[in-house]
Amino acid sequence: MTVHFIGAGPGAPDLITLRGRDIIARCEVCLYAGSLVPQVLLEHCPEGARVVNTAPLDLDQIIAEIRRAHEAGQDVARLHSGDLSVWSAMGEQMRRLRAESIPVSVTPGVPAFAAAAAALGAELTLPGLAQSVVLTRTSGRASTMPEGETLANFAATGATLAIHLSIQNIAKVVEELAPAYGADCPVAVVYRASWPDEAILRGTLSDIAGRLTDNIQRTALILVGPALSGEGFDESCLYAVDYDRRYRPQRADSPWANCTEEPENG
Ligand SMILES: C[S@@+](CC[C@H](N)C(=O)[O-])C[C@H]1O[C@@H](n2cnc3c(N)ncnc32)[C@H](O)[C@@H]1O
Repeated sequence: MTVHFIGAGPGAPDLITLRGRDIIARCEVCLYAGSLVPQVLLEHCPEGARVVNTAPLDLDQIIAEIRRAHEAGQDVARLHSGDLSVWSAMGEQMRRLRAESIPVSVTPGVPAFAAAAAALGAELTLPGLAQSVVLTRTSGRASTMPEGETLANFAATGATLAIHLSIQNIAKVVEELAPAYGADCPVAVVYRASWPDEAILRGTLSDIAGRLTDNIQRTALILVGPALSGEGFDESCLYAVDYDRRYRPQRADSPWANCTEEPENG
């Protein structure tokens, strides 16, 4: 018996991995975080599976569900939205399961920030503008931010910020970021990326708060940084005509002339 944690993706039912889908299809029990995981994914569960929405449950109750499956020798598919490496609450569940020697596996998923970038048709790391993406949030009722992890500190780096769980704090986000990025810094808000009602708002730090519509209250990402402009950036060396590199040696005496390894990024 194993508890399979599965990243269910950002919303579109075909943005789960094939591995994730296949694990769901062979698990007798499926626990899913009903607030964001699309119901249609539950159609992959085998007939007769026990399917439980964990949104109204507390951690003790979730672990009790898993323990019950464990005692019956039933595999569990545990679905969380996006990927499991960020804001999934997988860590606290895993700690309890390990303490009870219940085996686990982890299958990654498409994170919301990637789905949002795809909706925008944007690369978040444009040469000369930004080479880092910070996945962050502002503090909410359930979680406070560790000291030092402030938006102002992240903004000081000039990186692209992907700010989660914060659309209701947009005024504070703008206030903290404007001194470092400037009022004209481009911002995009992507609401429910990959869902049928996906919406995109573009603006700047000075006007994005005023552009928000009433329906955009949650499940939205705020992307901020110079790279969101999508212009004024450099071309990378990677594809430059005369760039001597391992996979495209330019001279007979190039150190890469006889290299046969596969490229890492293009
Ligand atoms: C609890 S976190 C889950 C993050 C998830 N584990 C991931 O990998 O992206 C929920 C927040 O992620 C963002 N989010 C999740 N799904 C989204 C989507 N489809 N479109 C835009 N933002 C989304 C929102 O900021 C939302 O408040």
